[in-house]
Amino acid sequence: MSDRKAPEKKLLKALAGEKTDSPPIWLMRQAGRYLPEYRKVRAEAGSFLDLCYSPKLAEEVTLQPIRRYGFDAAILFSDILVVPDALGQKVAFKEGEGPVLDPVTDSAGIAALGSPSGVKAALAPVYETVSRLKQSLPADVTLIGFAGAPWTVATYMVGGRGSPDQAAAKLLAYREPDTFQKLIDILVEATVEHLSAQVEAGAEAIQIFDTWAGSLPELSFERFALKPARAIRAKLKARFPHVPVIAFPRGAGGMAEHYFRETGVEGLSLDTGVSPLVARDRLQPIGCLQGNLDPLLLVAGGAEMRAQAAHILEALGHGPFIFNLGHGIVPQTPPEHVGELVRLVKDFRA
Ligand code: CP3
Repeated sequence: MSDRKAPEKKLLKALAGEKTDSPPIWLMRQAGRYLPEYRKVRAEAGSFLDLCYSPKLAEEVTLQPIRRYGFDAAILFSDILVVPDALGQKVAFKEGEGPVLDPVTDSAGIAALGSPSGVKAALAPVYETVSRLKQSLPADVTLIGFAGAPWTVATYMVGGRGSPDQAAAKLLAYREPDTFQKLIDILVEATVEHLSAQVEAGAEAIQIFDTWAGSLPELSFERFALKPARAIRAKLKARFPHVPVIAFPRGAGGMAEHYFRETGVEGLSLDTGVSPLVARDRLQPIGCLQGNLDPLLLVAGGAEMRAQAAHILEALGHGPFIFNLGHGIVPQTPPEHVGELVRLVKDFRA
């Protein structure tokens, strides 16, 4: 018999498969450039990575959207690319360009990476941010830790930057699958270490971002997206049986149902392309869903935003569900539209 009490926080209830009166809400990239108070701290911090590695400042920007909107969850302020940084790859965020890395393109480059067991020491400031948040967050707010999925992180490591088609990583995966598998294996281990350290410091739920999962054809999706996610979730479960995992295999389309069943994750985060009505019938019986308002509806606001948010709530709000976007908030989002969306979701009654 389990001596664990049923979860009390709204987001953890939803992830345990319970229906909540109104769904919990948080938004991907809820801390960021659309908030003037973020831009202020960001300017003080210097570089983006300096902000990620300054526990006091990272704590502050994590808390900003919680104070402003009363979200049900706070997501640790960090980035998915701190893992390659911790493995010794050179990572920089250039103004107006996004991330730039010294690409890892072959077995020699992969062999030169540091050991996954070194990640915990290298990322100590990130776990300090988590510990601080554990103290400072309101009692009803869930703290979400996160990491990038191995495939998505590998697309940046191999390509050296973001790309619309992930061609560099795909070509390595197709031409030299065993070499590419070595990189994925290192990332599975490093990700488990990184997420375990976040849980030990106080993270109560985990999200795995596989932003580029949708660019993989079925056989590669199975090998490089589904299997690593299943391995990460299984290893975390063995260490922390009570910590739920949400996966965001963006663009998985027709492979989403298989992915949800086979990875065993408690929550599936849906991108905007997934029909809420189809998701209700096919995916919600498997577990908790999260999503999936178009971030550009949040930019536009008004009647169209309200109608499309209501459609999602009507379709998915009667089962275990977390309201979110289909991808991250974009910088041009008017902050008052976020406030209106939060009120609308909180007022919904299933
Ligand atoms: O959600 C949150 O508020 C928590 C923090 C968070 C950030 N990045 C902060 C960030 C999270 C969860 C991420 C995840 C992330 N990072 C992903 C997966 C999710 C997604 O959005 O697809 C990816 C692919 C990255 C890599 C990354 N980081 C890119 C491609 C960029 C440049 C694009 C951009 O928006 O500038 C970043 C930078 C980044 N990460 C910013 C923030 C707030 C903006 C940088 C700045 O403030 O100067």
